[in-house]
Amino acid sequence: MANSGPFQYGDRVQLTDAKRRHFTIILTPGEKFHTHKGLILHDDIIGMDEGSVVRSSLGSDYLLFRHLMVDHVLSMPRGAAVIYPKDSAQILIEGDIFPGARVLEAGAGSGALSMALLRAIGPTGKLISYEIREDHLDFAESNVDEFFGGRPATWDPRLGDLTQVTVDDLGGPVDRVILDMVEPWECLDVVRNTLIPGGVFMTYVATVPQLMKVMEGIREQQCFTEPKAWESLVREWKVEGLATRPEHRMNAHTAFLVWARRLADGVMPPRPQRRARK
Ligand SMILES: C[S@@+](CC[C@H](N)C(=O)[O-])C[C@H]1O[C@@H](n2cnc3c(N)ncnc32)[C@H](O)[C@@H]1O
Repeated sequence: MANSGPFQYGDRVQLTDAKRRHFTIILTPGEKFHTHKGLILHDDIIGMDEGSVVRSSLGSDYLLFRHLMVDHVLSMPRGAAVIYPKDSAQILIEGDIFPGARVLEAGAGSGALSMALLRAIGPTGKLISYEIREDHLDFAESNVDEFFGGRPATWDPRLGDLTQVTVDDLGGPVDRVILDMVEPWECLDVVRNTLIPGGVFMTYVATVPQLMKVMEGIREQQCFTEPKAWESLVREWKVEGLATRPEHRMNAHTAFLVWARRLADGVMPPRPQRRARK
């Protein structure tokens, strides 16, 4: 699937009607898209620029754009809950996912974070994604393959339990580790053993008890910086003259993000200085 240029066969295209309803099709030779307002021939869309309008046989107009990664993530089939785009964005920047990085991820779930990581590591990076459930790995693989139009050469999805993984299984240490699972504290030995000094570790947990447990687990390892935790809140605004105001609805909570860096071996972490209570 191309990312830009005129539409080609194989592109995943979003059609938007006058009521802002979305319909998604994959451009296929000879195929037709049936609407309540007549037919659209896929062949008629080939060669048009993104942002063009196609007219159905009964005269309705549809705006045409390729699917963006966010559209794919929010509409793809899933076995496990996905990391939402607002949180993937935090992980890419705060986790410092750079082109050429070697990244370890678990669990692969539905593959949403894998897609974002694969884009960020570029053609010279490596992403190893562990998933303990075969049915979830199937979702991750088909979603990622569909989005990229084939299996990225930089991706190594594996069926397995991350708690059992050694640095040799990975072919050497990794630059970044990202965990999205119910019990990330069970994997902290693996994170310690596989992450390079200075490497960034991030995990994503939905509840306060999980947050407390993983923060304590990271401190007990004594090979990480003092972990920090936060959440990101994104509130859309309606901007229409005097009606300008925040939208009524928002995703108020998805999960907490936890971040720490691997210290060099044998270094005792300086304890954070807390002010004595009066
Ligand atoms: C919330 S989902 C991950 C979603 C994924 N980040 C995404 O964006 O699509 C959590 C996944 O972790 C997997 N998992 C839990 N413990 C695991 C372990 N020890 N090793 C590998 N995968 C594990 C679960 O089977 C589940 O599919």
